[in-house]
Amino acid sequence: MTIETRPHGKVGAEILGVDLGHLAPGDLAHIRAAFAEYGVVFFRDQAIDEAQHIAFARALGRININRFFAAHPHHREIALVVKEPDQRTNIGGGWHTDHSYDREPALGSVLVARELPPQGGATDFASMAAAYDALPDDLRECIAGLRAVHSARHVFGSKALAYADERDAPKGRIGNAPAADGLSDVTHPVVIIHPLSGRRVLFVNPGFTIAIAGLPEAQSRALLDRLFAHCRDPRFHETFHWQPGSVALWDNRATWHLAHNDYHGHRREMHRITIEGQALEAADPLTA
Ligand code: SIN
Repeated sequence: MTIETRPHGKVGAEILGVDLGHLAPGDLAHIRAAFAEYGVVFFRDQAIDEAQHIAFARALGRININRFFAAHPHHREIALVVKEPDQRTNIGGGWHTDHSYDREPALGSVLVARELPPQGGATDFASMAAAYDALPDDLRECIAGLRAVHSARHVFGSKALAYADERDAPKGRIGNAPAADGLSDVTHPVVIIHPLSGRRVLFVNPGFTIAIAGLPEAQSRALLDRLFAHCRDPRFHETFHWQPGSVALWDNRATWHLAHNDYHGHRREMHRITIEGQALEAADPLTA
């Protein structure tokens, strides 16, 4: 097995010489180590079926059964991330971190390309450890010790605008709005100590973070907007171009991701399995 860092070396690495359907002794330990170091790892030319996808995810942790995405008809562990040729909106088209609205945010996700458009449909990843390291001093001091509020209701709930025309429709991509409506918002530290790498990581994202706890609304919005603008800087990003057989395994505590929506008129189907995580620990503000 060899590991190649991405062309610009910002986030992610490609793992070569491994068959995810038939892992050799020691492979999993190397994959886990690369995952902890690079935040997202990519594999090419994998011929894995759904059962092998599930087995690989299970080897990494407990599988989360998605509450809002349509499930694979025969494997409830697999959430379908689909855009049909006649749909305009894609799933995950804005920067986000899966499941940050859970009390114990997901460890990561394993995404397998099943049907790709002839062009486009890439996914961007951003390193939240690199973004933290590059914070201007005043912003780093400003967020020390703060917690942020995360919610799913504005995305998946009955009053959400995204996917409104298809939510809960038969065969809809997104559903179960009452479950989102019933979820309580949660708070997590704005700066966490990453459970695997030990690095300081910014844990706020534009998709699901709605406020900074304890701040007046205008101040909270301004601070989040400043943090999001900082993290959107391309110097923290890499783009992954999918091919048949591509697989990505990303860490939801260490990265943001965004799926390009640039292939209207074509179908894209990805299979995602998300792995349960743990409560996140705040970085010590005194040693920031
Ligand atoms: C996601 O946001 O989980 C899916 C990303 C993608 O489809 O590339």
